[in-house]
Amino acid sequence: MTKRVVTLAHYYTQPEIQQMADKVGDSLELSLYAREAEADIIVFAGVRFMAETAKILNPKAEVVLPDAGSTCSLVTQTDVSALRAWRESYPDHVHVAYINSSAEHKALSDWIVTSRNVDDIIAHLYAEGKKVIFSPDRNMGAYLNYQYGYDMPLWSAVCEVHDKFNETALNEALAAVTGKAHLIAHPESPLPVLKRAEYVGSTSGMLNWVKSFQGDAHAVIFVATEDGILYNMGQARPDLDLRQAPIYAGCQCNSCPYMKMNTVEAVRRAQNGEGIRIDYLTEAQMEAARRPIERMLDFSQ
Ligand code: 13P
Ligand code: SF4
Repeated sequence: MTKRVVTLAHYYTQPEIQQMADKVGDSLELSLYAREAEADIIVFAGVRFMAETAKILNPKAEVVLPDAGSTCSLVTQTDVSALRAWRESYPDHVHVAYINSSAEHKALSDWIVTSRNVDDIIAHLYAEGKKVIFSPDRNMGAYLNYQYGYDMPLWSAVCEVHDKFNETALNEALAAVTGKAHLIAHPESPLPVLKRAEYVGSTSGMLNWVKSFQGDAHAVIFVATEDGILYNMGQARPDLDLRQAPIYAGCQCNSCPYMKMNTVEAVRRAQNGEGIRIDYLTEAQMEAARRPIERMLDFSQ
């Protein structure tokens, strides 16, 4: 019998990869889609933590990652034994972990969040009088503490892509614009950049902001995130002057090396069942990681 293959792609993958996918989205949308997918094989054109999340949510499906190297710096910068000790040093806190984390890391958390629902979930926990620790993204945590006046202790890892955005390059780019300029940003960016942004949110949040932009048609819109989503934004609003925020003068070149490992050949091979199977997580590991993920999904629906 022919196997049902479902291909998922994150916005940061190249346009050719997105065109090969059944669903393109942000981390939350892709997790929800993976959970409900009636598939024998789920090809995840994203990075490993996304494929692991898909496997945890849909354990009957075979989940295949096109390239073994597709990791994420938020995962590789986090030593799980050190994280366990850190978590244990805050016994009366709720541990909120960003979805950009390994399955083992998720199992040490109480709630998983994505960039789409992090504000609401943490606000909900504070409203209940809880004390919260946040891992692994230091930039996102610093932004939440600044924006809402929280005092969350933070784990210290960063997205190596977003962490490159900086005020100096941004100021130069903004100064070079003669007309109106706007800045929107992903919360993995450093705090000085986020403080300048008029919208901070997930990849699909930023895409929606662009889709519904009503301002001056000649304005320049700088986008502080990985370059892949500029394709989706340009498709949705070809009338706008959309530019990736620079990391140094003249550079609109900030790509995630791990997302870009999803080449057409690698995705095609994965669709034929070759690639990295996410088959190394034990039932117990998946169960422990599933609890905080499901808590988030229930909250977000
Ligand atoms: P989103 O959930 O906003 O798509 O973010 C995923 C990611 O890896 C950002 O770097
Ligand atoms: Fe990880 Fe950053 Fe790449 Fe997103 S852009 S997958 S956070 S390294």
